[in-house]
Amino acid sequence: MSAYTEEEIEGLRKAGKVVALTLTEMVSRIEPGISTLQLDEIAGKILAQHKARSAPALLHNFPGTTCISVNHIIAHGKPNRRKLQHGDLINIDVSAELNGFYSDAAYSTVVGNDQDELQNLCDCTYAALLKAISICEAGRPLQLIGQTIEEEARQHGYTVIRNLCSHGVGKSLHVTPVNIYNYNEPNQEGFLEEGMVIALEPYLSTGACRAVEMEDGWTMTTHNQSFVAQFEHTILITGGQPEILTVL
Ligand code: CO
Ligand code: CO
Repeated sequence: MSAYTEEEIEGLRKAGKVVALTLTEMVSRIEPGISTLQLDEIAGKILAQHKARSAPALLHNFPGTTCISVNHIIAHGKPNRRKLQHGDLINIDVSAELNGFYSDAAYSTVVGNDQDELQNLCDCTYAALLKAISICEAGRPLQLIGQTIEEEARQHGYTVIRNLCSHGVGKSLHVTPVNIYNYNEPNQEGFLEEGMVIALEPYLSTGACRAVEMEDGWTMTTHNQSFVAQFEHTILITGGQPEILTVL
């Protein structure tokens, strides 16, 4: 039994395409000298062209269109006028609503010259996401997602941020299952079902296991100045390999 009608799945596919288009365009513009505010303005234009709306602005009054987190800011970073510099670790997370359907995707990379050798952290996080996606098949336990991510992280000497979760997505940004752990959590209940739509978003770190919220109520960092990378895709669960909705 499918969680969404064929028409609803079509709506989710369209939302996924707009998010993918926005993220791809933003990523292509990353270079030393551009500010995160300028990157965010690109997103604003593309979403408006497609009559889509920023999910964090719509749902939480977030002061920006997308979340852009640089260096020790690991999530929910607010776009600002600071110009990107060589060696900055940047994460862009785009989530949007189109005709009542939501989609969510993110990307991390190093700006210009990789002075602190952080691209490996990004590559490993992306590999962990792809591995997790590859095991997502109807009937499998949700726990297998976190198990797969944590194993990949460990093999490369990285840790998983445990208090930021993957989640269901659909008619809102966060729907059941709301807390899909990105590490092996024995208490994780539930199974993947055909027609389920989920956003997988592992956060891997050079040494932190928790994200902490800063005083502004948005920005998240770590307690020990570790670096963190995150990648995210929204996927549709099928009887075989999942369909990735946030690709062009
Ligand atoms: Co998400
Ligand atoms: Co996201």
